[in-house]
Amino acid sequence: MLRTHNCGELNSSNISKTVTLAGWVQKIRNKGFMIWVDLRDRYGITQLIFDQKRTSKQVFSNAKKLSREFVIQVSGNVIERESKNIDIQTGEVEILVQEINILNESKTPPFTIEDDTDGGEELRMQYRYLDIRRNKIKDNLLFRHKVTMEVRNYLSKNGFVDIETPYLIKSTPEGARDFIVPSRTNLGEFYALPQSPQTFKQLLMVSGLDRYFQIVKCFRDEDLRADRQPEFTQIDCEMSFVNQEDVLNQFEKLISHLLIKFKNFKIDKFPKITYDKAIMNYGTDKPDIRFEMKFGDITDLSKGNGFKIFDSVESIVGFSIKKGSSMTRKEIDKWTSWVKQPQIGAKGLVWVKYNEDKSFKSPIDKFYSEKDFLKWAKVTNANVGDIIFILAGKTNKTLKQLGDLRLEVAEKLGLRDPNNFAPIWITDFPLLEWDDELKRYHSMHHPFTSPKKEHISLLKTSPKEVKANAYDLVINGNEIGGGSIRIHDSELQKQIFNLLGFTKKDALDQFGFLMESFKYGAPPHGGIAFGLDRLVAILGGKETIRDFIAFPKNNSGRDSMIDSPSKIKKDQLDDLGVKIKKHLK
Ligand code: AMO
Repeated sequence: MLRTHNCGELNSSNISKTVTLAGWVQKIRNKGFMIWVDLRDRYGITQLIFDQKRTSKQVFSNAKKLSREFVIQVSGNVIERESKNIDIQTGEVEILVQEINILNESKTPPFTIEDDTDGGEELRMQYRYLDIRRNKIKDNLLFRHKVTMEVRNYLSKNGFVDIETPYLIKSTPEGARDFIVPSRTNLGEFYALPQSPQTFKQLLMVSGLDRYFQIVKCFRDEDLRADRQPEFTQIDCEMSFVNQEDVLNQFEKLISHLLIKFKNFKIDKFPKITYDKAIMNYGTDKPDIRFEMKFGDITDLSKGNGFKIFDSVESIVGFSIKKGSSMTRKEIDKWTSWVKQPQIGAKGLVWVKYNEDKSFKSPIDKFYSEKDFLKWAKVTNANVGDIIFILAGKTNKTLKQLGDLRLEVAEKLGLRDPNNFAPIWITDFPLLEWDDELKRYHSMHHPFTSPKKEHISLLKTSPKEVKANAYDLVINGNEIGGGSIRIHDSELQKQIFNLLGFTKKDALDQFGFLMESFKYGAPPHGGIAFGLDRLVAILGGKETIRDFIAFPKNNSGRDSMIDSPSKIKKDQLDDLGVKIKKHLK
């Protein structure tokens, strides 16, 4: 070994020992007769001291050659520091260096390797290996490792078997777009990278493996956001002989375990809300319930009083903000402009102040009496001292706009505390959603999701009404996981494919293997997949998953460090039988 200790472990109990350390030069302070160097490795920082009086000439002159990020090995005595640094673990001691070995020099890094770096996002991505030297990213990766290990151990202890499924699979049109891989040995044919191991985990249930898990890369060619990467990792799980309650209980325990282990955060039971209620109460199927601000529908209470806008719309919905009655006109105007911006698209914002003296104030108070406002206050949970924000328009649009406003208000009020965790199960999703453009149904989750038993008869008459045995886990407004009880009957599966617009031939071509397997004794089964990147980010108090991925892609799906995607040589294209259109060359 090139070292006796690492840079994070020496303290006063090691004083007067001779040690050897190795690491990177973080910082140099040269006072002429004395040189201090901060030596860094993954474990911490140890201060080195080169003293002209006590260090040999040769070593001292080598120390003068040092520069940031040089890799060195030093030996010397552990001595007590004159001015101690209580902020770091090794802050009581320093090493009086006797020998130095420069293991490798370094160019000046393109940005400072500090917690507060001067490097912009793109530059840091280009030199990600240097970015990872910074505590922030390094600690995130170490944290991810711990969470992953904990999940693995927990699931293994609970009887789940870690099984790998293939990455080169078959393209299917459901869900996001596939990443496609041309096959050289089967010219003109293509593999697809899996968007998830969904069908394979179901087949493993048919195989009788009973409980499966895999921490697995998934690939989706979709537009990117802070919480979306084209390749990401799932904690993918499946169980046999279970109903929805069993799956929720099992995985609630896993998430509770992680919250206690990593955040010391105890929560007894995760609340559940149906999809319809979530939309009605929060305007989204990913509600952040760290704070209240539940919607109240005042449509019936506010129509017919002569206020034209309200009289002409489909829905009038609001929520109350605690202590909001003290908002100034200017502040309210800001919120009005906020909801009117094109990304939100509301026509205007109506407000009602429930003043401390129990009176009401609103720009529309000539249409409504105090009695009316009192009713609105009740429905929107407004108390004396609060303000009610109200939007009106088409139901779905208005709920969505109000949901966005609710989040933004909470953000401004500091109610989205990253150290608070509010998990919630969303259940009873619609099985299908109508695509107005393509004039056909899509699966809301995926085509293998089972409809609620009592809704199966509706598949023929009103498919829109059919609810699924599908569920999502949402934490702090982020979709952390999703799953369902699956169809295990080949006839029902056929019927669903039919509803989704698959011809018999297409269904057979694409999913024949699954339907065939169901004819050989498929057990009832269900499961869930969590987004590991999102889970780790939330536990780490962040929502940007990129910071928790060693080598992420940027917002255009590029890896700027290896410069990918990239062109390939003509020979290689020919081998694969792939032709690039002229205008793309
Ligand atoms: P779903 O598509 O809901 O379900 O995915 C499960 C979870 O994966 C995470 N996730 C992502 N994370 C980062 N980047 C992405 N592009 C991305 N897409 C999804 C989310 C999501 O909740 N096979 C089913 C699961 C099942 O039914 O068991 C599936 O893949 O946190």
